Amino acid sequence: MTDWMAIMDKTDTTSITSFSYDFTTKINREGQGSAKWNLMHEQAEDPLSEGIVPFSVADMELPHPPEVITALHTLLDTTILGYTVPTDSYFQSVIEWQTRRHNWTPQKEWIVTSPGVVPAFHAAIRAFSKPGDGVIIQQPVYYPFMKAITINDRIIVNNALINNKKERCYQIDFADLEQKASNPHNKILLLCSPHNPVGRVWTRNELQRIVDICLRHDVFIISDEIHNDLIMPGYEHTTLLSLVDEVQAKHTMVCTAPSKTFNLAGFQTSNIFIPDADCRKKFQLEFEKLGLGMLNAFGYTACEAAYNNCEVWLEEVLRLI
Ligand SMILES: Cc1ncc(COP(=O)(O)O)c(C=O)c1O
Repeated sequence: MTDWMAIMDKTDTTSITSFSYDFTTKINREGQGSAKWNLMHEQAEDPLSEGIVPFSVADMELPHPPEVITALHTLLDTTILGYTVPTDSYFQSVIEWQTRRHNWTPQKEWIVTSPGVVPAFHAAIRAFSKPGDGVIIQQPVYYPFMKAITINDRIIVNNALINNKKERCYQIDFADLEQKASNPHNKILLLCSPHNPVGRVWTRNELQRIVDICLRHDVFIISDEIHNDLIMPGYEHTTLLSLVDEVQAKHTMVCTAPSKTFNLAGFQTSNIFIPDADCRKKFQLEFEKLGLGMLNAFGYTACEAAYNNCEVWLEEVLRLI
C-alpha cells in the first residue's frame, strides 16, 4: 500500500464519499506515456518494487472532470479538425474565470495563447532582455526557471528566499531584491506566484512591495501564476496585474493556464496576459521566430469547458486536498 493510500484509508471516508465527483477510481497510467510515471522508471537504478509512486511532475492521478470529456466528445463528433483559432466564447471563458475566481478583469486583446507557461517565459526572457543580462529569480524555485535563463544566455541572479524556521515559512529578502533590481544589468524578475516549491501564496502587501521595487528600477516582471487556482482555505491569491495601473502595466505580464487546476497539462494550452501593446508585439515576435502560432483545437475546447463548467469540480478537489 502506498503512503497516500494509507492516508486515504485513515481519512474520514464519509467526507470522501460525500463528493459528487469520482475521486477514488484508480487509473493505471503505466504504458500510457505519462511523463511522471515514465520518468520514475527511467531514473530508477533497480526495478521498482510494487507500490512506489512518483511525486515529481505536478499532475494529479484523478479522473478528469466529466464536463471536459463531454465537450471533447462533442468537438470530435461535430467539428472538422482543421487549423483552429480561439473563438470569442473561448476568450470570454478566460475573462470570466479571472473575474470570478481572481477578482480582476483582463481585456480580450491582452490575452496571448501559448503552448504552455514554460514556452511563454522562455519567449518573454528573449523579448525583454538581451544575452548577458541578469534575470532575477527567488530560489529555491521550479527548476525550468534556471534553464530558461541559462539556455537563452542570460545570467541567473538569485534573490534567495529566507527560510524563516520560527514562522515555518519562506519569506522574501526585500533589501536584497532592491539591491539586485537596482543593478542596471538585471532586466527581469521571473516571479513564481504562488511559489513552487515553497508553497507560499504571496500576500497583496508582499506583491505590492515587489512591484514598487521593480518599477522603481525598470525591471520587467514575468509573473508565473500557473498555481493561482490551487489555493487552500484562509489564503487569497492576488493577480499581479490587479496591482498595477496602466503605465505600470507596461512592465508586467502574467502567465496562467487551466493545466494544473484541472489536470489538463497534456493539452499544452495556456493564457498569457500582456496589457501593453508594444510588449505584446515583442513577445509574439519570439513565437513567430519559431513558427509558433495556433494551438491545438482540443486545448481550446478543454480550457473553455473547464472554465465554464468545472468550478464545482475544482471546489471539490480543493476540499479533497
Ligand atoms: C511554476 C510552474 N510554472 C510552469 C509549469 C509548467 O507550465 P506548462 O506546462 O504550461 O509549460 C509548472 C509545472 O509544474 C510550474 O510548477
